[in-house]
Amino acid sequence: MERTCLAVVLAAGDSTRMKSSMSKVLHPVGRRPMIAHVMEAIARADISTAALVVGRDADGVTAAARIDGMKVDAYLQTERLGTGHAVLAAREAIAAGYDDILIAYGDVPLITEAPLRAARQGLADGNDVVVIGFHTERPTGYGRLLVKDGELIAIREEKDATDAERRVNWCNSGLMAINGRKALDLLDRIGNDNAKGEYYLTDVVQIARSLGGQAVAVDASETELTGCNNRAELAVIERLWQERRRHELMISGVTMIAPETVFLAYDTVIGQDVVIEPNVFFGPGAVVESGAVIHSFSHIERSRIGAGAEIGPFARLRPGAELAANSKVGNFCEVKNSKVGEGAKVNHLTYIGDATIGAHANIGAGTITCNYDGVNKFETHIGAGSFIGSNSSLVAPVSIGENAYVASGSVITADVPAEALALGRARQEVKPGRATVIRERALAMKAAKNAKE
Ligand code: UD1
Ligand code: MG
Repeated sequence: MERTCLAVVLAAGDSTRMKSSMSKVLHPVGRRPMIAHVMEAIARADISTAALVVGRDADGVTAAARIDGMKVDAYLQTERLGTGHAVLAAREAIAAGYDDILIAYGDVPLITEAPLRAARQGLADGNDVVVIGFHTERPTGYGRLLVKDGELIAIREEKDATDAERRVNWCNSGLMAINGRKALDLLDRIGNDNAKGEYYLTDVVQIARSLGGQAVAVDASETELTGCNNRAELAVIERLWQERRRHELMISGVTMIAPETVFLAYDTVIGQDVVIEPNVFFGPGAVVESGAVIHSFSHIERSRIGAGAEIGPFARLRPGAELAANSKVGNFCEVKNSKVGEGAKVNHLTYIGDATIGAHANIGAGTITCNYDGVNKFETHIGAGSFIGSNSSLVAPVSIGENAYVASGSVITADVPAEALALGRARQEVKPGRATVIRERALAMKAAKNAKE
């Protein structure tokens, strides 16, 4: 039978060093709150029930933690009396009875499912406590894992450690799994007789052993156990997250010429054979289908770029931009809430908002859909195969029929039928010799002025 598991996630963290009006675990990594990343790793380890220990911003933190498929109950820790005390805030959930209790931190967002699974496997193998540790060159500040003959004897906090113990470089990440049938008994025995006067969760190791149980440590990478205490660390975590995600995408068949300059969101989807040039930013909700090319300095959010389409350099796709296969949105173009048809081209200096553009239409340089009257938004429909001359303003609501022509420089305020030509500009007049007259008059004026001075 499958073992049942409750994840206890500590998110009552001390956010003071973030210097923020918002709880630490709500700060985003890859455009998503840190806490949601932790919950995602837990979900991937096939755990679907979590007890969230919250302090500040309880409602916001709980909402952010409620990812799909995860049942989350929140428990308030009113006083911060230590990690052991924090876990016991979820007493009621733990008491419901699980085979495994997995403890995770809300401010360790790079955690992946692998060490969580390894920790649970350690319980299945008969251990009462399995601690997730990491090796580091800079162990200062962390609890040290004291191991003998493969067994974890104790975790010694920095402040309570001897010099010899401080030289140990295998450290406690804080994440651990505890035998769920014994967890409450073990946790209730934790005291606060130590250098900090806190209830140390880490004491469960010695407590479990004193009751005849066994504890072990499993190893994970220092990178994925990086915690966040201030905004400088947040930036480090963001960098590590971006590196990991880019790597996954490149391995899955995406070309990035300068990957370190491409910024992804947690839900960015990019198909095979897509080429991304340097300096591209993805906000949430971007989907890029296979073979598309994203030229430099493009900014994309809540948009879909069809197979073989091309955008940029300097293209901005705002929410609701949907580019069909093989379409093009070129330099200094902005597309918002609009569909660009298959093979259609919007190549230069254009704003397309609340519009539909039919297949193979050509939108000339400087075309603007005037979609807003200062109060309401209106739609523009541009038929397949039509040609919009450069520097035209299409004043919505307005429709241009299939295969129609709009003359350059037009201001189009009325619908244009299919196959028609529309001119919405003053007719050109040519006055022969008139330039000479104007120039001579100007020169004479200047000469008269100079003579006076
Ligand atoms: C803890 C571990 C230490 C480990 C380190 C890893 C203990 C006693 N020590 O130390 O062995 O190497 O984490 O980062 O567990 N929290 C609460 N409520 C509290 C206290 C803490 O929610 O009352 C949360 C914090 O917000 C944080 C986590 O628990 O997310 C760890 O607490 P912190 O005070 O940072 O513990 P450390 O001293 O760093
Ligand atoms: Mg800490």
